[in-house]
Amino acid sequence: QAVTQHQAENASISRGLVESNHAGYTGGGFVNYDNAAGSYVEFTVTAATAGPATLTLRYANGSTADRPLAITVNGTAAAGALPFTATGAWSTWATRTTPVTLAAGANRIRATATTAAGGPNLDRLDVETGTAQAGRPA
Ligand code: GCU
Repeated sequence: QAVTQHQAENASISRGLVESNHAGYTGGGFVNYDNAAGSYVEFTVTAATAGPATLTLRYANGSTADRPLAITVNGTAAAGALPFTATGAWSTWATRTTPVTLAAGANRIRATATTAAGGPNLDRLDVETGTAQAGRPA
Protein backbone atom coordinates (compact mmCIF):
# COMPACT_ATOMS: atom_id res chain seq x y z
CA GLN A 1 0.00 0.00 0.00
CA ALA A 2 1.12 3.51 -0.84
CA VAL A 3 -0.28 6.84 0.29
CA THR A 4 0.11 10.05 -1.68
CA GLN A 5 -0.83 13.49 -0.34
CA HIS A 6 -2.46 16.16 -2.49
CA GLN A 7 -2.92 19.68 -1.13
CA ALA A 8 -6.27 21.29 -1.93
CA GLU A 9 -4.60 24.67 -2.52
CA ASN A 10 -2.66 23.11 -5.42
CA ALA A 11 -5.74 21.51 -7.00
CA SER A 12 -8.04 22.96 -9.63
CA ILE A 13 -10.65 25.13 -7.89
CA SER A 14 -14.00 26.25 -9.25
CA ARG A 15 -15.67 28.85 -7.07
CA GLY A 16 -13.45 28.78 -4.01
CA LEU A 17 -10.48 30.61 -2.55
CA VAL A 18 -7.16 29.51 -1.10
CA GLU A 19 -6.95 30.86 2.44
CA SER A 20 -4.78 30.38 5.53
CA ASN A 21 -6.62 32.29 8.26
CA HIS A 22 -7.59 29.23 10.33
CA ALA A 23 -4.73 27.32 11.98
CA GLY A 24 -4.05 23.63 11.72
CA TYR A 25 -3.95 23.17 7.96
CA THR A 26 -1.12 21.30 6.25
CA GLY A 27 0.86 22.73 3.36
CA GLY A 28 0.31 26.36 2.40
CA GLY A 29 -3.36 26.72 3.24
CA PHE A 30 -6.78 25.31 2.52
CA VAL A 31 -9.64 25.87 0.11
CA ASN A 32 -12.66 27.87 1.29
CA TYR A 33 -15.46 26.76 -1.03
CA ASP A 34 -17.81 29.52 -2.10
CA ASN A 35 -21.12 29.18 -0.28
CA ALA A 36 -22.82 27.75 -3.35
CA ALA A 37 -23.92 24.37 -4.65
CA GLY A 38 -21.65 23.26 -7.48
CA SER A 39 -18.44 24.79 -6.19
CA TYR A 40 -15.68 22.19 -6.44
CA VAL A 41 -12.06 21.18 -5.95
CA GLU A 42 -10.58 18.77 -8.48
CA PHE A 43 -7.39 16.82 -7.83
CA THR A 44 -5.37 14.98 -10.46
CA VAL A 45 -4.06 11.74 -9.00
CA THR A 46 -1.84 9.36 -10.91
CA ALA A 47 -2.22 5.65 -10.21
CA ALA A 48 0.34 3.09 -11.36
CA THR A 49 -2.32 0.46 -11.91
CA ALA A 50 -6.11 0.35 -12.05
CA GLY A 51 -7.88 -0.79 -8.90
CA PRO A 52 -9.37 0.10 -5.55
CA ALA A 53 -8.16 3.04 -3.50
CA THR A 54 -9.21 4.84 -0.35
CA LEU A 55 -9.66 8.60 -0.35
CA THR A 56 -9.18 10.52 2.89
CA LEU A 57 -10.28 14.15 2.81
CA ARG A 58 -9.03 16.43 5.61
CA TYR A 59 -11.43 19.26 6.36
CA ALA A 60 -12.82 21.71 8.89
CA ASN A 61 -16.44 22.73 9.30
CA GLY A 62 -16.97 25.41 11.92
CA SER A 63 -20.63 25.79 11.04
CA THR A 64 -23.31 23.77 12.80
CA ALA A 65 -24.60 22.00 9.69
CA ASP A 66 -23.31 19.22 7.45
CA ARG A 67 -21.47 20.43 4.32
CA PRO A 68 -21.81 17.39 2.02
CA LEU A 69 -19.57 16.82 -0.99
CA ALA A 70 -20.28 14.63 -4.00
CA ILE A 71 -17.20 12.72 -5.15
CA THR A 72 -16.61 11.84 -8.78
CA VAL A 73 -13.70 10.00 -10.34
CA ASN A 74 -13.15 10.79 -14.03
CA GLY A 75 -16.69 12.14 -14.15
CA THR A 76 -18.36 9.07 -12.65
CA ALA A 77 -20.08 9.29 -9.27
CA ALA A 78 -18.15 7.55 -6.49
CA ALA A 79 -20.02 8.98 -3.50
CA GLY A 80 -23.30 10.88 -3.89
CA ALA A 81 -23.27 13.24 -0.94
CA LEU A 82 -20.59 12.30 1.52
CA PRO A 83 -21.21 13.99 4.89
CA PHE A 84 -18.69 16.52 6.20
CA THR A 85 -20.21 17.15 9.58
CA ALA A 86 -19.43 20.00 11.94
CA THR A 87 -15.99 19.87 13.58
CA GLY A 88 -16.76 22.53 16.21
CA ALA A 89 -14.45 25.25 14.88
CA TRP A 90 -12.83 26.30 11.60
CA SER A 91 -9.46 25.49 13.18
CA THR A 92 -10.51 21.97 14.19
CA TRP A 93 -9.74 19.50 11.42
CA ALA A 94 -11.12 16.01 10.84
CA THR A 95 -11.04 13.40 8.09
CA ARG A 96 -13.66 11.66 5.98
CA THR A 97 -12.81 8.49 4.09
CA THR A 98 -14.45 6.87 1.07
CA PRO A 99 -13.54 3.98 -1.23
CA VAL A 100 -13.13 4.52 -4.97
CA THR A 101 -11.82 2.71 -8.02
CA LEU A 102 -9.01 4.39 -9.93
CA ALA A 103 -7.94 3.94 -13.53
CA ALA A 104 -4.31 3.43 -14.48
CA GLY A 105 -2.68 6.79 -15.16
CA ALA A 106 -4.20 10.18 -14.41
CA ASN A 107 -7.49 10.34 -12.50
CA ARG A 108 -9.62 13.45 -11.97
CA ILE A 109 -11.04 13.31 -8.46
CA ARG A 110 -13.60 16.06 -7.94
CA ALA A 111 -15.31 17.03 -4.66
CA THR A 112 -18.40 19.15 -5.37
CA ALA A 113 -20.58 20.97 -2.84
CA THR A 114 -24.17 19.74 -3.03
CA THR A 115 -25.87 22.41 -0.92
CA ALA A 116 -26.14 26.21 -1.01
CA ALA A 117 -23.80 26.45 2.01
CA GLY A 118 -20.96 25.12 -0.15
CA GLY A 119 -18.28 22.71 1.03
CA PRO A 120 -16.30 22.57 4.23
CA ASN A 121 -12.84 24.15 4.28
CA LEU A 122 -10.72 21.50 2.54
CA ASP A 123 -7.09 20.98 3.49
CA ARG A 124 -5.88 17.88 1.68
CA LEU A 125 -6.67 14.64 -0.09
CA ASP A 126 -4.73 11.50 0.80
CA VAL A 127 -4.99 8.58 -1.61
CA GLU A 128 -4.13 5.09 -0.48
CA THR A 129 -3.77 2.61 -3.30
CA GLY A 130 -3.51 -1.13 -3.03
CA THR A 131 -6.32 -1.09 -0.48
CA ALA A 132 -7.48 -4.56 0.49
CA GLN A 133 -10.88 -5.52 -0.87
CA ALA A 134 -13.53 -7.21 1.23
CA GLY A 135 -12.88 -10.92 1.49
CA ARG A 136 -9.25 -10.66 0.50
CA PRO A 137 -6.20 -10.40 2.73
CA ALA A 138 -4.44 -7.04 2.84
C1 GCU B 1 -16.35 31.65 7.83
C2 GCU B 1 -14.96 31.05 7.88
C3 GCU B 1 -14.55 30.51 6.53
C4 GCU B 1 -15.60 29.54 6.04
C5 GCU B 1 -16.94 30.24 5.99
C6 GCU B 1 -18.08 29.34 5.52
O1 GCU B 1 -16.33 32.81 7.04
O2 GCU B 1 -14.02 32.02 8.30
O3 GCU B 1 -13.27 29.89 6.61
O4 GCU B 1 -15.27 29.00 4.80
O5 GCU B 1 -17.28 30.74 7.26
O6 GCU B 1 -19.11 29.30 6.18
O7 GCU B 1 -17.94 28.66 4.50
